[in-house]
Amino acid sequence: MNKIENNSKKERVARMFDRIARSYDFLNHFLSLGIDIYWRRRALAWLRQKNPTYILDVATGTADLALMAQKVLPAHTTIGIDISEKMLEIGRQKIEKKQLKDKITLYSGDSEQINFQENTFDAAMVAFGVRNFENPIKGLSEIRRVLKDKGTILVLEFSKPRLFPFKQLYNFYFSFILPLIGRIFSRDKEAYTYLPESVQQFPDGKAFGEMLQKAGFGAVQIKTMTLGVVSVYMAEK
Ligand SMILES: C[S@@+](CC[C@H](N)C(=O)[O-])C[C@H]1O[C@@H](n2cnc3c(N)ncnc32)[C@H](O)[C@@H]1O
Repeated sequence: MNKIENNSKKERVARMFDRIARSYDFLNHFLSLGIDIYWRRRALAWLRQKNPTYILDVATGTADLALMAQKVLPAHTTIGIDISEKMLEIGRQKIEKKQLKDKITLYSGDSEQINFQENTFDAAMVAFGVRNFENPIKGLSEIRRVLKDKGTILVLEFSKPRLFPFKQLYNFYFSFILPLIGRIFSRDKEAYTYLPESVQQFPDGKAFGEMLQKAGFGAVQIKTMTLGVVSVYMAEK
Protein backbone atom coordinates (compact mmCIF):
# COMPACT_ATOMS: atom_id res chain seq x y z
CA MET A 1 0.00 0.00 0.00
CA ASN A 2 1.14 3.57 -0.58
CA LYS A 3 2.55 5.25 2.49
CA ILE A 4 -0.05 6.90 4.71
CA GLU A 5 0.88 10.36 5.92
CA ASN A 6 1.39 10.63 9.68
CA ASN A 7 -1.39 12.43 11.53
CA SER A 8 -3.81 12.29 8.61
CA LYS A 9 -7.34 11.07 9.36
CA LYS A 10 -6.38 7.96 7.38
CA GLU A 11 -3.44 7.21 9.65
CA ARG A 12 -5.55 7.74 12.78
CA VAL A 13 -8.36 5.53 11.45
CA ALA A 14 -5.94 2.77 10.42
CA ARG A 15 -4.24 2.77 13.84
CA MET A 16 -7.61 2.86 15.64
CA PHE A 17 -8.86 -0.21 13.76
CA ASP A 18 -5.49 -1.91 14.35
CA ARG A 19 -6.01 -1.40 18.09
CA ILE A 20 -9.58 -2.72 18.24
CA ALA A 21 -9.21 -5.49 15.62
CA ARG A 22 -9.25 -8.33 18.19
CA SER A 23 -12.50 -7.21 19.82
CA TYR A 24 -14.13 -5.82 16.63
CA ASP A 25 -16.23 -8.84 15.62
CA PHE A 26 -17.41 -9.60 19.14
CA LEU A 27 -18.38 -5.98 19.82
CA ASN A 28 -20.14 -5.61 16.46
CA HIS A 29 -22.42 -8.55 17.21
CA PHE A 30 -22.82 -7.72 20.91
CA LEU A 31 -23.60 -4.00 20.48
CA SER A 32 -26.05 -4.62 17.64
CA LEU A 33 -27.56 -7.74 19.30
CA GLY A 34 -26.47 -9.67 16.21
CA ILE A 35 -28.55 -7.52 13.86
CA ASP A 36 -25.41 -6.52 11.90
CA ILE A 37 -25.38 -10.05 10.46
CA TYR A 38 -28.93 -9.56 9.18
CA TRP A 39 -28.02 -6.11 7.72
CA ARG A 40 -25.14 -7.55 5.70
CA ARG A 41 -27.28 -10.46 4.48
CA ARG A 42 -30.17 -8.21 3.42
CA ALA A 43 -27.87 -5.74 1.65
CA LEU A 44 -26.23 -8.58 -0.29
CA ALA A 45 -29.60 -10.09 -1.18
CA TRP A 46 -30.32 -6.81 -2.96
CA LEU A 47 -27.11 -7.16 -4.98
CA ARG A 48 -28.06 -10.69 -6.07
CA GLN A 49 -30.18 -9.40 -8.97
CA LYS A 50 -26.97 -8.04 -10.59
CA ASN A 51 -25.30 -11.46 -10.52
CA PRO A 52 -21.72 -10.12 -10.11
CA THR A 53 -18.89 -12.61 -10.54
CA TYR A 54 -15.90 -10.41 -9.65
CA ILE A 55 -16.41 -8.20 -6.59
CA LEU A 56 -14.30 -5.63 -4.75
CA ASP A 57 -15.01 -5.34 -1.01
CA VAL A 58 -13.66 -1.94 0.01
CA ALA A 59 -12.80 -1.40 3.69
CA THR A 60 -13.30 -5.14 4.11
CA GLY A 61 -12.02 -5.09 7.72
CA THR A 62 -12.34 -8.62 9.15
CA ALA A 63 -14.06 -9.75 5.92
CA ASP A 64 -17.57 -10.30 7.33
CA LEU A 65 -19.25 -8.87 4.22
CA ALA A 66 -17.03 -10.85 1.83
CA LEU A 67 -17.71 -14.04 3.81
CA MET A 68 -21.46 -13.43 3.89
CA ALA A 69 -21.41 -12.81 0.11
CA GLN A 70 -20.20 -16.40 -0.35
CA LYS A 71 -23.45 -17.58 1.25
CA VAL A 72 -25.85 -15.12 -0.37
CA LEU A 73 -24.56 -14.52 -3.92
CA PRO A 74 -24.10 -17.05 -6.74
CA ALA A 75 -20.56 -18.25 -7.55
CA HIS A 76 -18.12 -15.35 -7.51
CA THR A 77 -14.71 -14.26 -6.26
CA THR A 78 -13.97 -11.28 -4.03
CA ILE A 79 -10.96 -9.07 -3.52
CA GLY A 80 -11.02 -7.24 -0.19
CA ILE A 81 -8.91 -4.17 0.58
CA ASP A 82 -8.35 -2.29 3.83
CA ILE A 83 -5.84 0.10 5.39
CA SER A 84 -5.73 -1.73 8.74
CA GLU A 85 -3.28 -4.65 8.67
CA LYS A 86 -4.58 -6.07 11.95
CA MET A 87 -8.20 -6.16 10.72
CA LEU A 88 -6.98 -7.94 7.56
CA GLU A 89 -5.04 -10.45 9.68
CA ILE A 90 -8.24 -11.49 11.48
CA GLY A 91 -10.09 -11.58 8.16
CA ARG A 92 -7.46 -13.88 6.61
CA GLN A 93 -7.68 -16.27 9.57
CA LYS A 94 -11.48 -16.48 9.17
CA ILE A 95 -11.17 -17.10 5.42
CA GLU A 96 -8.62 -19.84 5.96
CA LYS A 97 -10.76 -21.50 8.63
CA LYS A 98 -13.75 -21.54 6.27
CA GLN A 99 -11.53 -22.87 3.45
CA LEU A 100 -12.43 -19.98 1.17
CA LYS A 101 -8.91 -18.92 0.18
CA ASP A 102 -9.61 -19.59 -3.48
CA LYS A 103 -12.72 -17.36 -3.34
CA ILE A 104 -11.64 -14.38 -1.20
CA THR A 105 -8.27 -12.62 -1.23
CA LEU A 106 -7.43 -9.71 1.05
CA TYR A 107 -4.88 -7.00 0.29
CA SER A 108 -3.62 -4.00 2.13
CA GLY A 109 -5.09 -1.14 0.12
CA ASP A 110 -6.53 2.36 0.24
CA SER A 111 -9.96 3.18 -1.18
CA GLU A 112 -8.65 6.53 -2.36
CA GLN A 113 -5.91 4.98 -4.49
CA ILE A 114 -7.03 1.53 -5.57
CA ASN A 115 -4.31 -0.67 -7.06
CA PHE A 116 -6.47 -2.08 -9.86
CA GLN A 117 -7.03 -1.01 -13.42
CA GLU A 118 -10.18 0.70 -14.65
CA ASN A 119 -13.12 -1.49 -15.68
CA THR A 120 -12.07 -4.47 -13.55
CA PHE A 121 -14.97 -5.38 -11.22
CA ASP A 122 -18.64 -6.20 -11.82
CA ALA A 123 -19.55 -4.83 -8.40
CA ALA A 124 -17.99 -3.07 -5.44
CA MET A 125 -19.35 -3.07 -1.91
CA VAL A 126 -18.56 -1.08 1.22
CA ALA A 127 -20.07 -1.87 4.62
CA PHE A 128 -19.61 0.71 7.39
CA GLY A 129 -16.56 2.03 5.58
CA VAL A 130 -17.29 5.16 3.51
CA ARG A 131 -17.87 7.24 6.64
CA ASN A 132 -14.29 6.48 7.66
CA PHE A 133 -12.66 7.57 4.42
CA GLU A 134 -10.51 10.67 4.66
CA ASN A 135 -12.04 11.95 1.41
CA PRO A 136 -15.30 10.06 0.69
CA ILE A 137 -15.89 11.58 -2.79
CA LYS A 138 -12.35 10.66 -3.82
CA GLY A 139 -12.83 7.13 -2.48
CA LEU A 140 -16.18 6.71 -4.24
CA SER A 141 -14.74 8.07 -7.52
CA GLU A 142 -11.85 5.60 -7.28
CA ILE A 143 -14.32 2.76 -6.72
CA ARG A 144 -16.23 3.95 -9.80
CA ARG A 145 -13.01 3.95 -11.84
CA VAL A 146 -12.29 0.26 -11.16
CA LEU A 147 -15.89 -0.82 -11.89
CA LYS A 148 -16.85 -2.07 -15.33
CA ASP A 149 -19.27 -0.03 -17.39
CA LYS A 150 -22.75 -0.32 -15.74
CA GLY A 151 -21.05 -1.95 -12.74
CA THR A 152 -22.79 -1.67 -9.37
CA ILE A 153 -21.76 -0.09 -6.08
CA LEU A 154 -23.47 -1.28 -2.89
CA VAL A 155 -23.00 0.76 0.27
CA LEU A 156 -24.24 -0.24 3.73
CA GLU A 157 -23.88 2.53 6.27
CA PHE A 158 -25.35 3.81 9.53
CA SER A 159 -28.03 6.46 9.14
CA LYS A 160 -29.97 8.60 11.58
CA PRO A 161 -33.42 7.35 12.73
CA ARG A 162 -36.00 10.14 12.61
CA LEU A 163 -39.10 8.51 14.13
CA PHE A 164 -40.24 9.65 17.59
CA PRO A 165 -39.71 8.11 20.22
CA PHE A 166 -37.37 5.53 18.64
CA LYS A 167 -34.99 8.29 17.58
CA GLN A 168 -34.59 9.54 21.16
CA LEU A 169 -34.16 6.06 22.66
CA TYR A 170 -31.70 5.01 19.96
CA ASN A 171 -29.67 8.22 20.25
CA PHE A 172 -29.34 7.69 23.99
CA TYR A 173 -28.11 4.14 23.43
CA PHE A 174 -25.81 5.06 20.53
CA SER A 175 -24.27 8.15 22.15
CA PHE A 176 -23.95 7.02 25.78
CA ILE A 177 -24.41 3.27 26.37
CA LEU A 178 -22.57 2.00 23.29
CA PRO A 179 -19.38 4.07 23.82
CA LEU A 180 -19.28 2.90 27.45
CA ILE A 181 -19.60 -0.80 26.63
CA GLY A 182 -17.26 -0.38 23.65
CA ARG A 183 -14.62 1.26 25.81
CA ILE A 184 -14.80 -1.45 28.49
CA PHE A 185 -14.46 -4.39 26.08
CA SER A 186 -12.07 -2.90 23.50
CA ARG A 187 -10.02 -1.07 26.16
CA ASP A 188 -9.80 1.77 23.65
CA LYS A 189 -10.84 5.28 24.66
CA GLU A 190 -11.36 6.66 21.19
CA ALA A 191 -12.99 4.09 18.90
CA TYR A 192 -16.50 3.85 20.29
CA THR A 193 -16.81 7.59 20.90
CA TYR A 194 -15.65 8.17 17.33
CA LEU A 195 -18.42 5.84 16.06
CA PRO A 196 -21.51 7.93 17.01
CA GLU A 197 -19.66 11.18 16.24
CA SER A 198 -18.70 10.05 12.75
CA VAL A 199 -22.26 8.87 12.03
CA GLN A 200 -23.66 12.20 13.23
CA GLN A 201 -21.36 14.14 10.90
CA PHE A 202 -21.87 11.96 7.83
CA PRO A 203 -24.66 12.51 5.26
CA ASP A 204 -27.39 9.86 5.06
CA GLY A 205 -30.42 9.18 2.87
CA LYS A 206 -30.81 11.58 -0.06
CA ALA A 207 -27.74 13.57 1.01
CA PHE A 208 -25.54 10.49 0.66
CA GLY A 209 -27.29 9.73 -2.64
CA GLU A 210 -26.11 13.16 -3.83
CA MET A 211 -22.58 12.29 -2.73
CA LEU A 212 -22.73 9.17 -4.90
CA GLN A 213 -23.88 11.33 -7.82
CA LYS A 214 -21.04 13.78 -7.23
CA ALA A 215 -18.66 10.84 -7.49
CA GLY A 216 -20.19 10.07 -10.90
CA PHE A 217 -22.71 7.34 -10.08
CA GLY A 218 -26.23 7.22 -11.50
CA ALA A 219 -29.47 5.29 -10.89
CA VAL A 220 -29.12 5.72 -7.11
CA GLN A 221 -31.55 3.63 -5.04
CA ILE A 222 -31.92 3.79 -1.27
CA LYS A 223 -33.43 1.37 1.27
CA THR A 224 -33.58 1.83 5.02
CA MET A 225 -33.57 -0.94 7.61
CA THR A 226 -34.37 -1.21 11.32
CA LEU A 227 -36.32 2.09 11.49
CA GLY A 228 -33.50 3.99 9.80
CA VAL A 229 -30.59 2.75 11.91
CA VAL A 230 -28.85 1.73 8.69
CA SER A 231 -29.37 2.42 4.99
CA VAL A 232 -28.35 0.51 1.90
CA TYR A 233 -27.50 2.38 -1.28
CA MET A 234 -27.16 0.85 -4.72
CA ALA A 235 -25.94 2.84 -7.72
CA GLU A 236 -24.51 2.30 -11.19
CA LYS A 237 -21.36 3.42 -13.03
C1 LIG B 1 -16.24 -0.26 10.65
S1 LIG B 1 -15.02 -1.16 9.76
C2 LIG B 1 -16.00 -2.08 8.61
C3 LIG B 1 -15.41 -3.41 8.25
C4 LIG B 1 -16.30 -4.35 7.44
N1 LIG B 1 -16.63 -3.80 6.14
C5 LIG B 1 -17.55 -4.73 8.18
O1 LIG B 1 -18.64 -4.68 7.60
O2 LIG B 1 -17.45 -5.13 9.35
C6 LIG B 1 -14.32 0.12 8.78
C7 LIG B 1 -13.07 -0.31 8.03
O3 LIG B 1 -12.73 0.73 7.08
C8 LIG B 1 -11.34 0.72 6.92
N2 LIG B 1 -10.95 1.92 6.19
C9 LIG B 1 -11.05 3.20 6.60
N3 LIG B 1 -10.58 4.05 5.66
C10 LIG B 1 -10.19 3.28 4.62
C11 LIG B 1 -9.61 3.55 3.35
N4 LIG B 1 -9.33 4.80 2.97
N5 LIG B 1 -9.34 2.53 2.53
C12 LIG B 1 -9.59 1.24 2.90
N6 LIG B 1 -10.13 0.91 4.09
C13 LIG B 1 -10.43 1.92 4.95
C14 LIG B 1 -10.85 0.58 8.35
O4 LIG B 1 -9.51 0.19 8.43
C15 LIG B 1 -11.84 -0.47 8.90
O5 LIG B 1 -11.33 -1.78 8.80
